[in-house]
Amino acid sequence: MTIDSANSIPAFYAGQSIFLTGATGFLGKVFIEKILRSCPDVREIFLLMRPKKGLSINQRLEKILDLPLYEKLRDERASNFEKLIPISGDVGEKGLGLSTADRQILVERVTIIIHAAANVKFNNSLKCAIFSNTRATRDICIIAQSMKNLKALVYVSTAFTHVNNPFIEEKVYPPIADWRKMIDMAESLDEHTLNIFTAKCLDYAPNTYIFSKNLAENVIQDYSSSLPCAIVRPSFVMPSLKEPMPGWIDNIYGPIGLFIGGGKGLIRVACCNKSVNEDTVPVDIVIKAIIVVTWKLGLTTFTASPTPFVLNCTDQKYVTFEDGIKLLFSVTNEVPLEGIVWIPNTILTDNFILFYILTILLHILPAILADLILYFSGRRPMLVRLQRKLYVVNRAVSYFSFHEWKFSNTNELAVMSSIPPDNRDMFSFDYSDVDFREYYKNGIIGAKQFLLHEDLNRLDAAKAHSKRVHLFVTIVETVISIGVLWIMFKWIYSYTL
Ligand SMILES: NC(=O)c1ccc[n+]([C@@H]2O[C@H](COP(=O)([O-])OP(=O)(O)OC[C@H]3O[C@@H](n4cnc5c(N)ncnc54)[C@H](OP(=O)(O)O)[C@@H]3O)[C@@H](O)[C@H]2O)c1
Repeated sequence: MTIDSANSIPAFYAGQSIFLTGATGFLGKVFIEKILRSCPDVREIFLLMRPKKGLSINQRLEKILDLPLYEKLRDERASNFEKLIPISGDVGEKGLGLSTADRQILVERVTIIIHAAANVKFNNSLKCAIFSNTRATRDICIIAQSMKNLKALVYVSTAFTHVNNPFIEEKVYPPIADWRKMIDMAESLDEHTLNIFTAKCLDYAPNTYIFSKNLAENVIQDYSSSLPCAIVRPSFVMPSLKEPMPGWIDNIYGPIGLFIGGGKGLIRVACCNKSVNEDTVPVDIVIKAIIVVTWKLGLTTFTASPTPFVLNCTDQKYVTFEDGIKLLFSVTNEVPLEGIVWIPNTILTDNFILFYILTILLHILPAILADLILYFSGRRPMLVRLQRKLYVVNRAVSYFSFHEWKFSNTNELAVMSSIPPDNRDMFSFDYSDVDFREYYKNGIIGAKQFLLHEDLNRLDAAKAHSKRVHLFVTIVETVISIGVLWIMFKWIYSYTL
């Protein structure tokens, strides 16, 4: 009996040729793994890649496939790696930097596009953000229009593209600027002049990344009359829940960077409204949502639509920043990070003055002291530089803790309920029954292994170090408290005489 695509997601993907951008990124790598493992009869996946750090695209791919992320796939279906075809390109360049020959191959063979490449730095220049995030999306649509058998184009956006609405529906909102004009301006104006416009653009978006992603959604909207398009909007993407292993993470951007900085004892204060809910979603959940949306879109006969299908891929349980941080630090007591410099405990404050005072006292002064010790002991000072970087991340992420959004999930629920019963185990992206403590614990173990490259066999040593730091901190705090009390006593005593 042949299984038809409507009743089987793997059957739909059998024989499909996928064009994936952002293949080397956090989401892209997990997408490759999941498709090759759960939809093994896919025909091929073209990966848009650029050479980087002295490595060619083939060398980069080889290195990526060596990651622990692919261990399961290596054991189960190693031959499927041959289905990966790297294609040289650069989303920062006009026309995606594709050669004519590669372009022709894509036009002939591709049936599905997953556009996940983006320059995700929050504080990029406007030119760079528009080129990589907005113009590249337009160029993806242009090439998609010449594809002979395109079934689905799924754009990976972000849940925060429409931050001016407290309740975000699964639809594209009116643009904050005209994407055509913005691309023209980015192409014709010099960097300096564009920087003057940046301030104006940032009246409507918190950073150039969100601004350019907002415009990109409108590119997709405008092309959806001629292309089968969908938009998937994840919130902050966090370590994997289950697949291919719990806790997979190799991306330090956003809240993860702050959690690690906090877990190491480096981030002692964060500018944050602690009662706001943080919206995060595990990476394997996002990838399953993308795969299922693509399947749904691919099954539907294309009719020109004024608007693409949109799915908010957001939290299904709300946890406040304060509760999240508390849970995290209680778990780091069980599984401490190696080489912590202070007891993990981040003070969350929404008072800017207090934040700056505490930043000087708890971050900058200790970092200067530590760098001086490093310098005089012949080692390279690094803590002031590190604290500066953490400060930038801290401020960038803090925007999201001062605002709260609720997200509609009507489409999410509808798509989820349409997953064929036999495929639910493999593709359901419902995680409403998640045990957060377990998830955080796996996330920290994953961060230790895959991000910080710590050896889990050294856990006892990390615990012993953590105990020494606790003792040291207790002594330092006791000495400081006694000193302060002594000064106060002397001061009061001198006044009463
Ligand atoms: N991670 C999150 O929390 C999150 C949340 C919401 C939405 N998203 C969206 O999800 C998508 C994937 O994000 P991610 O977390 O996987 O980001 P990531 O780890 O930073 O990966 C970004 C990907 O884009 C590629 N890229 C960037 N500039 C490029 C260029 N000029 N030419 C070719 N490729 C380029 C990168 O390639 P290189 O390796 O060559 O740099 C990498 O493969 C993005 O569209 C992002 O906006 C992510």
